[in-house]
Amino acid sequence: MELVRMQAPFVLVTGGKGGVGKSTVAANLGVQLAREGHRVLLVDLDLGLANLDLLLDVGSGATLEDVVHGGLRLAECVRTGPAGLSVLAGGSGDERMGRLTDDQRHELLQELRELSADYDIVLGDSSAGIGPDVLRFAAVADRVLVVTTPELPALTDAYGLIKAMDQLSRRDGLDVPTPEVVVNLAVDVEEGTSVANKLRAICERFLSRSPRQAGWLPRSRSVAAGAAHRRPFALAEQRGLEQLCLRQVSGRLQRLIPRPTPALVS
Ligand SMILES: Nc1ncnc2c1ncn2[C@@H]1O[C@H](COP(=O)(O)OP(=O)(O)OP(=O)(O)O)[C@@H](O)[C@H]1O
Ligand SMILES: [Mg+2]
Repeated sequence: MELVRMQAPFVLVTGGKGGVGKSTVAANLGVQLAREGHRVLLVDLDLGLANLDLLLDVGSGATLEDVVHGGLRLAECVRTGPAGLSVLAGGSGDERMGRLTDDQRHELLQELRELSADYDIVLGDSSAGIGPDVLRFAAVADRVLVVTTPELPALTDAYGLIKAMDQLSRRDGLDVPTPEVVVNLAVDVEEGTSVANKLRAICERFLSRSPRQAGWLPRSRSVAAGAAHRRPFALAEQRGLEQLCLRQVSGRLQRLIPRPTPALVS
Protein backbone atom coordinates (compact mmCIF):
# COMPACT_ATOMS: atom_id res chain seq x y z
CA MET A 1 0.00 0.00 0.00
CA GLU A 2 1.37 3.40 -0.95
CA LEU A 3 2.74 5.56 1.86
CA VAL A 4 0.75 8.67 2.69
CA ARG A 5 3.01 11.67 3.25
CA MET A 6 1.79 14.73 5.14
CA GLN A 7 1.81 18.22 3.64
CA ALA A 8 3.57 19.62 6.70
CA PRO A 9 6.52 18.12 8.62
CA PHE A 10 5.19 15.18 10.64
CA VAL A 11 6.88 14.29 13.92
CA LEU A 12 5.95 11.07 15.73
CA VAL A 13 6.64 10.96 19.46
CA THR A 14 6.95 7.35 20.50
CA GLY A 15 8.85 5.02 22.81
CA GLY A 16 9.15 1.32 23.41
CA LYS A 17 7.81 1.33 26.94
CA GLY A 18 4.60 2.58 28.53
CA GLY A 19 4.65 5.49 30.97
CA VAL A 20 8.01 6.94 29.93
CA GLY A 21 6.55 10.37 29.13
CA LYS A 22 5.59 10.21 25.44
CA SER A 23 2.34 12.13 25.88
CA THR A 24 3.96 14.63 28.25
CA VAL A 25 6.68 15.34 25.70
CA ALA A 26 4.28 15.50 22.75
CA ALA A 27 1.78 17.79 24.51
CA ASN A 28 4.41 20.20 25.79
CA LEU A 29 6.27 20.32 22.48
CA GLY A 30 2.95 21.14 20.82
CA VAL A 31 2.25 23.95 23.27
CA GLN A 32 5.80 25.30 23.01
CA LEU A 33 5.75 25.40 19.21
CA ALA A 34 2.30 27.01 19.26
CA ARG A 35 3.57 29.64 21.73
CA GLU A 36 6.31 30.43 19.27
CA GLY A 37 3.69 31.30 16.69
CA HIS A 38 3.55 28.10 14.66
CA ARG A 39 0.33 26.50 13.48
CA VAL A 40 0.54 23.16 15.25
CA LEU A 41 -1.70 20.12 14.94
CA LEU A 42 -1.28 17.60 17.75
CA VAL A 43 -2.85 14.20 17.08
CA ASP A 44 -3.49 11.48 19.62
CA LEU A 45 -2.33 8.39 17.75
CA ASP A 46 -2.45 6.18 20.85
CA LEU A 47 -5.62 4.94 19.22
CA GLY A 48 -7.14 2.52 21.71
CA LEU A 49 -6.14 4.31 24.89
CA ALA A 50 -5.89 7.97 24.03
CA ASN A 51 -5.51 10.55 26.79
CA LEU A 52 -3.93 13.69 25.37
CA ASP A 53 -7.21 15.53 25.88
CA LEU A 54 -6.82 14.99 29.62
CA LEU A 55 -3.35 16.52 29.65
CA LEU A 56 -4.49 19.56 27.73
CA ASP A 57 -7.97 20.36 28.95
CA VAL A 58 -9.50 20.70 25.51
CA GLY A 59 -12.98 19.74 26.67
CA SER A 60 -15.10 17.00 25.21
CA GLY A 61 -16.11 16.49 21.62
CA ALA A 62 -15.68 14.23 18.65
CA THR A 63 -12.65 11.96 18.51
CA LEU A 64 -10.73 9.90 15.97
CA GLU A 65 -13.07 7.05 16.89
CA ASP A 66 -15.93 9.06 15.35
CA VAL A 67 -13.86 9.41 12.20
CA VAL A 68 -12.96 5.73 11.87
CA HIS A 69 -16.31 4.29 12.95
CA GLY A 70 -18.77 7.17 12.75
CA GLY A 71 -18.07 8.60 9.32
CA LEU A 72 -17.07 12.04 10.63
CA ARG A 73 -14.44 14.07 8.81
CA LEU A 74 -11.19 14.70 10.66
CA ALA A 75 -11.61 18.45 10.34
CA GLU A 76 -14.82 18.21 12.38
CA CYS A 77 -12.86 16.85 15.35
CA VAL A 78 -10.29 19.61 15.73
CA ARG A 79 -10.38 21.23 19.18
CA THR A 80 -8.47 24.29 20.26
CA GLY A 81 -5.99 23.90 23.08
CA PRO A 82 -3.59 26.18 24.94
CA ALA A 83 -1.75 28.82 22.91
CA GLY A 84 -4.05 28.14 19.97
CA LEU A 85 -2.74 24.62 19.52
CA SER A 86 -5.07 22.39 17.45
CA VAL A 87 -5.75 19.00 18.98
CA LEU A 88 -7.24 15.82 17.56
CA ALA A 89 -8.28 13.72 20.51
CA GLY A 90 -8.54 9.96 20.37
CA GLY A 91 -11.13 7.75 21.97
CA SER A 92 -10.45 5.48 24.86
CA GLY A 93 -11.58 1.96 25.50
CA ASP A 94 -12.97 0.97 22.11
CA GLU A 95 -11.06 -2.22 21.42
CA ARG A 96 -11.69 -1.90 17.65
CA MET A 97 -9.47 1.19 17.65
CA GLY A 98 -6.66 -0.97 18.98
CA ARG A 99 -6.70 -3.14 15.86
CA LEU A 100 -7.25 -0.96 12.83
CA THR A 101 -7.10 -2.67 9.48
CA ASP A 102 -4.50 -1.50 6.97
CA ASP A 103 -7.31 0.17 4.99
CA GLN A 104 -8.67 2.03 8.02
CA ARG A 105 -5.19 3.25 8.96
CA HIS A 106 -4.57 4.30 5.37
CA GLU A 107 -7.82 6.28 5.26
CA LEU A 108 -7.05 7.98 8.56
CA LEU A 109 -3.64 9.02 7.24
CA GLN A 110 -5.21 10.29 4.01
CA GLU A 111 -7.55 12.51 6.04
CA LEU A 112 -4.65 13.69 8.16
CA ARG A 113 -2.72 14.49 5.01
CA GLU A 114 -5.56 16.73 3.79
CA LEU A 115 -5.81 18.52 7.12
CA SER A 116 -2.05 18.92 7.43
CA ALA A 117 -2.05 21.45 4.59
CA ASP A 118 -3.40 24.04 7.07
CA TYR A 119 -0.52 23.60 9.53
CA ASP A 120 3.19 24.32 9.87
CA ILE A 121 3.86 21.08 11.73
CA VAL A 122 1.95 17.97 12.80
CA LEU A 123 2.90 16.12 16.00
CA GLY A 124 1.64 12.62 16.74
CA ASP A 125 1.59 11.04 20.20
CA SER A 126 1.86 7.29 19.78
CA SER A 127 1.28 4.28 21.94
CA ALA A 128 4.14 2.23 23.36
CA GLY A 129 5.38 -0.91 21.71
CA ILE A 130 6.10 -2.16 18.22
CA GLY A 131 2.56 -2.74 16.96
CA PRO A 132 1.53 -1.99 13.38
CA ASP A 133 0.15 1.47 14.26
CA VAL A 134 3.43 2.68 15.71
CA LEU A 135 5.51 1.24 12.87
CA ARG A 136 3.22 2.49 10.10
CA PHE A 137 2.99 5.99 11.58
CA ALA A 138 6.78 6.03 11.98
CA ALA A 139 7.16 5.03 8.35
CA VAL A 140 5.42 8.22 7.18
CA ALA A 141 7.06 10.53 9.73
CA ASP A 142 9.72 13.06 8.84
CA ARG A 143 11.15 12.79 12.34
CA VAL A 144 10.64 10.12 15.00
CA LEU A 145 11.37 10.96 18.61
CA VAL A 146 11.91 7.94 20.83
CA VAL A 147 11.32 8.76 24.48
CA THR A 148 13.09 6.67 27.09
CA THR A 149 14.01 6.97 30.73
CA PRO A 150 17.41 5.98 32.18
CA GLU A 151 15.91 2.74 33.52
CA LEU A 152 17.18 -0.41 31.84
CA PRO A 153 13.74 -1.78 30.84
CA ALA A 154 12.86 1.51 29.11
CA LEU A 155 16.22 1.65 27.37
CA THR A 156 15.93 -1.98 26.26
CA ASP A 157 12.46 -1.32 24.85
CA ALA A 158 13.68 1.84 23.10
CA TYR A 159 16.35 -0.28 21.40
CA GLY A 160 13.72 -2.91 20.53
CA LEU A 161 11.56 -0.26 18.89
CA ILE A 162 14.45 1.18 16.88
CA LYS A 163 15.35 -2.36 15.80
CA ALA A 164 11.76 -3.07 14.71
CA MET A 165 11.70 0.16 12.71
CA ASP A 166 14.99 -0.81 11.11
CA GLN A 167 13.65 -4.25 10.21
CA LEU A 168 10.54 -2.73 8.66
CA SER A 169 12.73 -0.39 6.65
CA ARG A 170 14.79 -3.24 5.27
CA ARG A 171 11.93 -5.66 4.73
CA ASP A 172 9.57 -3.28 2.95
CA GLY A 173 12.22 -1.02 1.45
CA LEU A 174 10.80 1.92 3.40
CA ASP A 175 12.79 4.96 4.28
CA VAL A 176 11.95 5.00 8.01
CA PRO A 177 14.04 7.78 9.53
CA THR A 178 16.60 6.93 12.21
CA PRO A 179 14.87 8.22 15.36
CA GLU A 180 16.19 10.87 17.70
CA VAL A 181 16.21 10.13 21.40
CA VAL A 182 14.69 12.12 24.26
CA VAL A 183 15.82 10.99 27.70
CA ASN A 184 13.05 11.78 30.16
CA LEU A 185 13.21 11.67 33.96
CA ALA A 186 16.98 12.12 33.95
CA VAL A 187 18.71 13.45 37.04
CA ASP A 188 20.91 15.89 35.14
CA VAL A 189 22.37 16.64 31.73
CA GLU A 190 25.20 14.14 32.28
CA GLU A 191 22.79 11.31 32.88
CA GLY A 192 20.72 12.34 29.84
CA THR A 193 23.81 12.33 27.64
CA SER A 194 25.20 9.07 28.97
CA VAL A 195 21.88 7.24 28.48
CA ALA A 196 21.56 8.54 24.90
CA ASN A 197 25.20 7.60 24.20
CA LYS A 198 24.60 4.10 25.50
CA LEU A 199 21.59 3.65 23.22
CA ARG A 200 23.47 5.06 20.26
CA ALA A 201 26.42 2.71 20.82
CA ILE A 202 24.13 -0.35 20.86
CA CYS A 203 22.32 0.81 17.71
CA GLU A 204 25.60 1.49 15.91
CA ARG A 205 26.93 -1.93 16.83
CA PHE A 206 23.90 -4.03 15.96
CA LEU A 207 21.89 -1.97 13.46
CA SER A 208 24.45 0.33 11.83
CA ARG A 209 22.14 3.19 12.79
CA SER A 210 23.22 6.14 14.84
CA PRO A 211 20.31 7.77 16.67
CA ARG A 212 21.16 11.28 17.84
CA GLN A 213 20.02 12.77 21.09
CA ALA A 214 17.27 15.34 20.62
CA GLY A 215 17.43 16.37 24.27
CA TRP A 216 16.49 15.40 27.79
CA LEU A 217 14.02 16.37 30.50
CA PRO A 218 14.57 16.34 34.25
CA ARG A 219 12.25 14.65 36.67
CA SER A 220 10.36 17.67 37.84
CA ARG A 221 7.46 18.49 40.09
CA SER A 222 6.17 21.12 37.71
CA VAL A 223 6.02 18.58 34.86
CA ALA A 224 3.92 16.24 37.00
CA ALA A 225 1.80 19.10 38.41
CA GLY A 226 1.18 20.36 34.89
CA ALA A 227 -0.29 16.99 33.96
CA ALA A 228 -2.35 16.76 37.13
CA HIS A 229 -3.85 20.24 36.64
CA ARG A 230 -4.20 20.00 32.87
CA ARG A 231 -1.89 22.93 32.45
CA PRO A 232 1.21 21.84 30.53
CA PHE A 233 4.47 23.12 32.04
CA ALA A 234 5.31 24.72 28.67
CA LEU A 235 2.75 27.41 29.62
CA ALA A 236 4.48 28.40 32.86
CA GLU A 237 5.82 31.94 33.00
CA GLN A 238 8.87 31.24 35.12
CA ARG A 239 11.59 29.49 33.16
CA GLY A 240 12.70 26.35 34.95
CA LEU A 241 15.22 23.79 33.78
CA GLU A 242 12.45 21.68 32.26
CA GLN A 243 11.45 24.59 30.03
CA LEU A 244 15.01 25.13 28.86
CA CYS A 245 15.26 21.45 28.05
CA LEU A 246 11.94 21.49 26.23
CA ARG A 247 13.07 24.41 24.13
CA GLN A 248 16.16 22.55 23.09
CA VAL A 249 13.97 19.82 21.58
CA SER A 250 11.40 22.21 20.08
CA GLY A 251 14.26 24.20 18.51
CA ARG A 252 15.34 21.11 16.63
CA LEU A 253 11.81 20.53 15.38
CA GLN A 254 11.45 24.13 14.34
CA ARG A 255 14.18 23.58 11.81
CA LEU A 256 11.86 21.16 9.99
CA ILE A 257 9.41 23.98 9.31
CA PRO A 258 10.15 25.65 5.99
CA ARG A 259 10.59 29.41 6.25
CA PRO A 260 8.63 31.53 3.82
CA THR A 261 10.87 32.71 1.02
CA PRO A 262 11.37 36.45 1.40
CA ALA A 263 9.74 38.42 -1.41
CA LEU A 264 12.27 39.68 -3.90
CA VAL A 265 12.78 43.40 -3.56
CA SER A 266 12.80 45.07 -6.94
N1 LIG B 1 9.83 14.79 33.48
C1 LIG B 1 8.86 14.37 34.28
N2 LIG B 1 8.85 14.72 35.59
C2 LIG B 1 7.87 14.28 36.42
N3 LIG B 1 6.84 13.50 36.02
C3 LIG B 1 6.79 13.12 34.73
C4 LIG B 1 7.79 13.54 33.79
N4 LIG B 1 7.48 13.00 32.58
C5 LIG B 1 6.35 12.29 32.75
N5 LIG B 1 5.92 12.35 34.04
C6 LIG B 1 4.73 11.71 34.60
O1 LIG B 1 4.80 10.31 34.29
C7 LIG B 1 3.50 9.79 34.01
C8 LIG B 1 3.51 9.14 32.62
O2 LIG B 1 3.70 10.13 31.63
P1 LIG B 1 3.00 10.05 30.20
O3 LIG B 1 1.54 9.79 30.32
O4 LIG B 1 3.44 11.23 29.45
O5 LIG B 1 3.71 8.73 29.64
P2 LIG B 1 3.37 7.93 28.31
O6 LIG B 1 4.67 7.37 27.84
O7 LIG B 1 2.61 8.76 27.37
O8 LIG B 1 2.45 6.75 28.88
P3 LIG B 1 1.55 5.72 28.03
O9 LIG B 1 2.50 4.66 27.54
O10 LIG B 1 0.58 5.19 29.04
O11 LIG B 1 0.91 6.47 26.91
C9 LIG B 1 2.55 10.97 34.11
O12 LIG B 1 1.96 10.96 35.37
C10 LIG B 1 3.45 12.19 33.95
O13 LIG B 1 2.94 13.32 34.59
MG1 LIG C 1 0.79 8.40 26.39
